[in-house]
Amino acid sequence: MKCKPNVVLAVSALLLALLMQPLSAEELYQSCIVCHGDAGQGGVTSGAPALAGQDEAYLIRQLRNFRDGVRGAVAGDDQGMQMAAMAAPLSDNDISALAAYLSELNRSPATLVKGNLRNGMTLYQGKCGACHGSVGEGNPSLNAPALAWLDGAYIQRQINNFQRGLRGRHRGDRYGRQMNLMAKGIESRDLDDIIAYMQSRTRD
Ligand code: HEC
Ligand code: HEC
Repeated sequence: MKCKPNVVLAVSALLLALLMQPLSAEELYQSCIVCHGDAGQGGVTSGAPALAGQDEAYLIRQLRNFRDGVRGAVAGDDQGMQMAAMAAPLSDNDISALAAYLSELNRSPATLVKGNLRNGMTLYQGKCGACHGSVGEGNPSLNAPALAWLDGAYIQRQINNFQRGLRGRHRGDRYGRQMNLMAKGIESRDLDDIIAYMQSRTRD
């Protein structure tokens, strides 16, 4: 598993910190920085996605899913398992505090993926926009997260995970199952165009 010493260190730091309760969200977030970045901008080498400005309810659901064995629990999902180890010691209160804190941080544009913007726009509007918002800004009322600020490789991996059943198969994963169905119709070649289109709109 990639970055394992990091995981062990980060989990130990988090456990130690939790023993010295109560901690503010900012203090809790210290143990996440090594992978997700000091401003929640994500880390390209760690494969940890941007969290800054993500929908609060989505963040709560993902952290609980990781903790409760709903996400990051299928063999082959190495990165999801890393994150599940990090979520294991978190209480519901810790999760709510972290999600509120992260959702308020400023989003920063991801490194642009190359692609055909016209094809990307057509596909995005036809297949994704109804749930994820007109430019990938997310739609909390449909439980669909923001996508446009996420790293291209992270998005590719998630779609792949949905397609392979590494994510969105658990019975309790109502919204992951929805996205699992949507991921079936996407070609990876087209996905670059879709990502390029969403990312280009964050620079408008
Ligand atoms: C050792 C590296 C590492 C540490 C430390 C870490 N994460 Fe993660 N995190 C990841 C990776 C890798 C993923 C992507 C998992 C995947 O591919 O499904 C992830 C995914 C997530 C997601 C899902 C985001 C989304 O868009 O679905 C959330 C939320 C999250 N992490 C929050 C946290 C918080 C809060 C902490 C600190 C308590 C933390 N992470 C610590 C590596 C880490
Ligand atoms: C029917 C509504 C719907 C449609 C259409 C849809 N999605 Fe989703 N998508 C969701 C929901 C709901 C989630 C949250 C899943 C969860 O909670 O785990 C999601 C999650 C995702 C994620 C994971 C984000 C993360 O931070 O880990 C990606 C990537 C994604 N969608 C991409 C797409 C793309 C690309 C399309 C179009 C080809 C698309 N979605 C179409 C509802 C939809």
